[in-house]
Amino acid sequence: MKAEDVATVGVVGCGIMGSGIVEVAAKAGLDVVVAELNDEAMARGRSRVEGSMARALERGKLEPAARDEALGRITDTTSVNELAEVDLVIEAATESLETKKEIFARLDEITRPDVVLATNTSSLPIAELATVTKRGDRIVGMHFFNPPPVMKLLEIVRTLTTSDETVAFARMMGERLGKTTVLAKDRAGFIVNFLLIPYLNSAITMLDEGFATREDIDTAVELGLGHPMGPLKLLDLIGLDTAVHVANVLYDEFKDPTYAAPTLLKRMVTAGYLGRKSGRGFYDYGS
Ligand code: CAA
Repeated sequence: MKAEDVATVGVVGCGIMGSGIVEVAAKAGLDVVVAELNDEAMARGRSRVEGSMARALERGKLEPAARDEALGRITDTTSVNELAEVDLVIEAATESLETKKEIFARLDEITRPDVVLATNTSSLPIAELATVTKRGDRIVGMHFFNPPPVMKLLEIVRTLTTSDETVAFARMMGERLGKTTVLAKDRAGFIVNFLLIPYLNSAITMLDEGFATREDIDTAVELGLGHPMGPLKLLDLIGLDTAVHVANVLYDEFKDPTYAAPTLLKRMVTAGYLGRKSGRGFYDYGS
């Protein structure tokens, strides 16, 4: 299938990333079918999409009519089977290889054989997902950045079996979604996280050693390097559990201590300090 002929996109998972991808696709004029595990998770996902569109409206990035139209293009479901008719699937479920393998095996059974199955994984081996399908040539990474409606980058990740046609299709779809694409090989961290994780780890170590305060570390990066937010604020946005997960995957792949999650980060996750989503991380966000 050609990217310009795609009319309906299926999204699996409506968490922080899934809901953002749903919003991006609906605003780009595509019909979206989004699947979550149960009604509760779906309701949370829907309110994430609505909340983000409300912020876009406040900031003058979206007109009320366009918001209503985009919301009208979204169908939600609690059964992956409802994705049988879609023209492309972007999976954004929880970062567990086992869960993703189950989802890909199911998607391979129910979708048309020509449909590309993409994953938003930020670090897991995409080749592993290809092995549970009969369409290794149509499995690809489409890695969005948080928050997807704002961040302009899309990393396209090709495995050893991904075809040139699928890479071209994913890049074209990225353009339709208003993103700039870059191409990376299927290696832990792709481009961005390979660079980002050692930097974030260093910031945590600096804080833990009392070298500088959290505010000074963040201010230094914001004003000295021009980043929109410093590393500790960024960790709170990404989610500390996600940061540990990505660090573990990178460490497993390269066995380089630069990638290992610092002890403070692991202990914060154990204590339930997950960043913005739990109300507390390196900063306090209230309830
Ligand atoms: N929809 C559309 N646009 C929005 C929006 C929304 N929901 N929310 C904010 N924006 C726009 C604003 O209009 C503004 O645009 P302009 O610059 O054109 O005016 C811009 O986004 C910034 O918004 P604000 O200045 O109001 O600040 P904010 O606090 O809302 O922005 C932020 C927050 C966009 C997150 C910004 O701080 C930022 O870019 N931070 C860095 C985020 C980052 O690095 N993400 C990557 C994480 S790593 C990752 O995702 C990889 C992984 O696998 C772990």
